[in-house]
Amino acid sequence: MAEKVTARKLRRLKGKRLIAMVTAYSYHEARLVDDAGVDAILVGDSLGMVVLGMRDTLNVTMDDMVRHVGAVARASPRALLVGDMPFMSYEPSVREAVLNAARLVRAGAEAVKLEGGEEMADRIKAIVSAGIPVMGHLGLTPQKYLRIGGYKLYGKRREEWEKLSRDAEALVEAGVFAVVLEYTVPELAARITREIPVPTICIGSGPRCDGQVLVLHDLLGLTPNPPPFAKRYADLSSIIVNAVSRYVEEVRGGVFPGEEHTPRP
Ligand code: KIV
Repeated sequence: MAEKVTARKLRRLKGKRLIAMVTAYSYHEARLVDDAGVDAILVGDSLGMVVLGMRDTLNVTMDDMVRHVGAVARASPRALLVGDMPFMSYEPSVREAVLNAARLVRAGAEAVKLEGGEEMADRIKAIVSAGIPVMGHLGLTPQKYLRIGGYKLYGKRREEWEKLSRDAEALVEAGVFAVVLEYTVPELAARITREIPVPTICIGSGPRCDGQVLVLHDLLGLTPNPPPFAKRYADLSSIIVNAVSRYVEEVRGGVFPGEEHTPRP
């Protein structure tokens, strides 16, 4: 049996081999992606959009995250289990950040992820001091899409290059063990990857990173409009529609349940 992945072990993979992370939100998803051999499972706040049918991530609550982190943890994955801190669970104060990170850990998370740069350094330091590993999240930060004006590629402006370098450095200083770089100009993601001593795990930021993360539903072909950078490795939508329509047909045609699915005393 392969060894349990911890935040420390994941950090040490930088420069040795590329890291594969994927999201999962339920017990069976976690079991399956863990069997597939991912290094880390992220219970992302993308939960709001891909599981709960919300328009964005802003209405995802701590209760939602605790419920789904718990479901994933019950699969006892070998992969590192990272729980996402939802909108307004860490911004208001350092104290709320630490207490909410602890709630995710008590639900089964082995690390937490939160969005933001320098301005979040005090939250990150305090969570790490409490004994909880933190993964940073820079580049496009979807919880701030209202201020940014949409889901825009990060790094098209020169000031953004300087800011991302400063933010990445502040996060490392605060004690993160890895940083997600979302939808960032690939040359900038490559530069940050060279500059910082912890792994960069990229989504929509090109190949020159220490690892990649995808939203499971995009990878499996379950979302109707996935972002252009998300590769579809399967088309589960048609498999599901096909299987369920056969079931509907068989029920209506009196074919199901047949002899083998009928209980006998
Ligand atoms: O919530 C999420 O799924 C994420 C990934 C896109 C990194 O934060």
